[in-house]
Amino acid sequence: MELPSVFARYRVELGEYLRSALPEGSPALLYRMLRYHLGWEDEHGRPLAEGAGKALRPTLCLWACQALGGDWRTALPAAAALELVHNFSLVHDDIQDGDRERRHRPTVWSLWGQPQAINAGDGLLIHSRLAMLRLEERGVAPAKVVEACRVLDKACLTMIEGQCLDIGFEDQREVSVEAYLDMIARKTGALLEASLHLGALVAIDDEPQVGRFARCGHLLGLAFQIRDDILGVWGAADVTGKPVAADIRRRKKSLPVVYAMAVAQAEEREQLLQVYSQGTPGDEEVSIVLQLLDSHRAYDYCQQMAQERIEQALAELAPADIEPEARRELEAVANFLLEREF
Ligand code: IPE
Ligand code: IPE
Ligand code: MG
Ligand code: MG
Repeated sequence: MELPSVFARYRVELGEYLRSALPEGSPALLYRMLRYHLGWEDEHGRPLAEGAGKALRPTLCLWACQALGGDWRTALPAAAALELVHNFSLVHDDIQDGDRERRHRPTVWSLWGQPQAINAGDGLLIHSRLAMLRLEERGVAPAKVVEACRVLDKACLTMIEGQCLDIGFEDQREVSVEAYLDMIARKTGALLEASLHLGALVAIDDEPQVGRFARCGHLLGLAFQIRDDILGVWGAADVTGKPVAADIRRRKKSLPVVYAMAVAQAEEREQLLQVYSQGTPGDEEVSIVLQLLDSHRAYDYCQQMAQERIEQALAELAPADIEPEARRELEAVANFLLEREF
């Protein structure tokens, strides 16, 4: 599925802004890892034309600013900060998950080792804060810049809480749907929430309205992560850039499995728990799990969960005074989150 057209509106200037936020530095290795991860260079340091990643969070941020009548270019530092903090989380997440590939390329740690990849992630996080502070250069009042930093820091902390819960679930025998939803609200909801929050905050001073945008972003984030979980089980390897049923092989307690555990009969539950309690499941065990998920229609359940959250997200903005065109753009993004294959 193609990216909705609103992504194209901001892509070039966002890319240029990000590059200005991340100048050359010493030691060269650190900056090479950052440029590699962001997709600006290959692993040998040769320049690449396109950056990596969809830039979902900055796009939502800039869209929110514009939808509320603000000049979206004013929000570019916030958009860049969101993308950098997101990329920090991915560099560390790939270490934590032991993933050797992301975005169809080797991960930073798989090329330069975990200790240096930790440095790369840390560098991205700090560059994110420095980017956010540049809101002041664009005429944003100092008090609002401080507020923007607080919003992003809190979201980042919440995301780390979510990562802690997610990793903890791997060693937990059973996880409830409720606990899972709390985990993804933090892991993914928080940063999507911050994306719309920050765009709205730059544009206007109306707190209730900013709050609606923040809640809308949170709900979009839940739907986005649920769809990501679906892709982690049923996504085609050539589009996700990960092995087939990657999340089952890693024994991730993602929504399809959490749901199946909750509804399975005692015997099936035991079978699932068995697979999930040993080392890496082989092809046969993976296919047992897949059959079990199918027999409980886990795909439909998850997709329905995502759909409901998308509807709630759009309903949040129903009372907001925004142009019909901007509303259509948001609907296109929401639809993309539900249907995306990558
Ligand atoms: C991946 O996020 C991690 C999740 C929170 C699901 P994205 O799918 O937005 O990652 P990129 O930046 O486009 O690769
Ligand atoms: C993504 O989490 C990282 C964060 C949200 C911090 P996952 O581990 O679930 O996502 P992918 O599949 O690796 O992108
Ligand atoms: Mg991961
Ligand atoms: Mg992870």
